[in-house]
Amino acid sequence: MTNFKWWQTSIIYQIYPRSFQDSNNDGIGDIPGIIKRLDYLREIGIKSIWISPFYPSPMKDFGYDISDYKGIHPIFGIMKDFDRLLDEAHKRDIKIIIDLVPNHTSDQHPWFLESRKSKDNPYRDYYIWKDSKKNGKEPNNWLSYFGGSAWEWDRETQQYYLHQFVKEQPDLNYANPKVLKEILDIIDFWLAKGVDGFRVDVICNMWKHPDFPNNPKNPKWTKKLPPFEKYLMKYNVNQPEVHAIVRKMRKVLDKYKDRVLIGETYLPYKGLLEFYGNNDECHLPFNFHLLGVKWKAPAIKKKVNDYEKILPENCWPSYVLGNHDQKRIATKIGSEKQARIANMLLLTLRGSPTVYYGEEICMKNVKIPKSLIQDPPALNQPDVADIVGRDPERTPMQWDDSPNAGFSAKGVKTWLPLAKDYKTNNVEIQKTQSNSMLALFKSLTKLRSEYSCLNSGKYKYIPTAQKDIFAYLRYDKNNTILVVLNFSQKFFKLDLSKKLPEKNGKLLLASDLEEHHSTQLSSLNIKAHLGLIIEIE
Ligand code: NOJ
Repeated sequence: MTNFKWWQTSIIYQIYPRSFQDSNNDGIGDIPGIIKRLDYLREIGIKSIWISPFYPSPMKDFGYDISDYKGIHPIFGIMKDFDRLLDEAHKRDIKIIIDLVPNHTSDQHPWFLESRKSKDNPYRDYYIWKDSKKNGKEPNNWLSYFGGSAWEWDRETQQYYLHQFVKEQPDLNYANPKVLKEILDIIDFWLAKGVDGFRVDVICNMWKHPDFPNNPKNPKWTKKLPPFEKYLMKYNVNQPEVHAIVRKMRKVLDKYKDRVLIGETYLPYKGLLEFYGNNDECHLPFNFHLLGVKWKAPAIKKKVNDYEKILPENCWPSYVLGNHDQKRIATKIGSEKQARIANMLLLTLRGSPTVYYGEEICMKNVKIPKSLIQDPPALNQPDVADIVGRDPERTPMQWDDSPNAGFSAKGVKTWLPLAKDYKTNNVEIQKTQSNSMLALFKSLTKLRSEYSCLNSGKYKYIPTAQKDIFAYLRYDKNNTILVVLNFSQKFFKLDLSKKLPEKNGKLLLASDLEEHHSTQLSSLNIKAHLGLIIEIE
């Protein structure tokens, strides 16, 4: 493979550090824990990891409320541990992507502590302060993602400040050029240390409409949706001015070799495209469309094909199946067999796949008893905790069947409870099972390393008569691979001979890891929930 960058060909594996591996038995994962598991990651074919925030933080939003952008929270370790992580990862040819949270800080960040002291404090304009309306009410109707108004009254200085998340996460003010300068300096600090890139948190939210108008009502809102969706986020999200900020960030990255800028971009495709800029913004604006889609072949085909159609050649695709804010895939689609199809899809589409920790062993959402809920949107809005809570997808990694699943030692109270099924569903057990999800995952990453077409080859959709089947080719000058995925519980006999002149193929992998499947293109037997990867000869 030539001319392709590491971030185009490697799988991005997201680690939520609180939940990956606890090394000091305080019930919370940490950086030395991640180091301990690097060999495992290497073994399963991971070459880049994105780590959610590990910075000093009062943990009001579990690290997304940062009080020092250049430090490490003691629960995760010390800077020496991070340096060792970089070193050990790089020794194993694993890249490290870290989380950058530029939209807001913690209210305990020194900038905000200054800012709230007085209206004429030099840091006042680092944040967004507004007078109340004449009737004392909030300056506008903007809602916090985590419940209630996005404005908090400050009694001392008699103004409101904006917070799009919890009130302890005040939004920074990018209309003040000093703020961006500070953030660029932070980016430079970590790049100089050797990190390989950033995932930029709520990248679309950094710029707000300068008039702060009310947001319009969402006519499609129902009680099944989170309360913040009652209004369309027209004036606080995705303002055109945000792109100038992203370009400045990218400039800092471009001073260094081969670093990657990834954006958290929950946007329609057209909006996503804009975040590539003119090859001067994000390398990878995350494509979250597989998260929201109904798990049915027609909807998924459309998502993929629309994306392929709209992406210009110089924009590299991204696909995401899960993260720390979303239901785990097996829970969402309610079927382990379909979770296999999901992984097969993710790892064979064209583009950089992002895998959330634990998906390789088919971890599922864990029901959290009320008394143990930790996540701020769920705590703030108990009536809709089931819709907005994110604890269920953040439970400790299931390494083995020992007490606390090899995440923490016996007797330790882990920060979130473990899944009840961890004794039978864990890495060690799945390593011994020839047909486990882990075995499938490893086979998929192995195929990606052996067949360049799966990483950097082209994509071609193959229409079939069956709406429940999604078939496509991945090909380059070396090889052509056919992927056939059955999204239903029906059996199909498929004749692809008219679409593909070749008569036969070689079975590279089946989602059930059986080897007996016929590969005659005129009569492919596709049983329920089966996925096949066939090399066309
Ligand atoms: C998006 C992150 O993914 C989420 O976990 C966090 O709560 C918010 N941004 C606020 O930083």
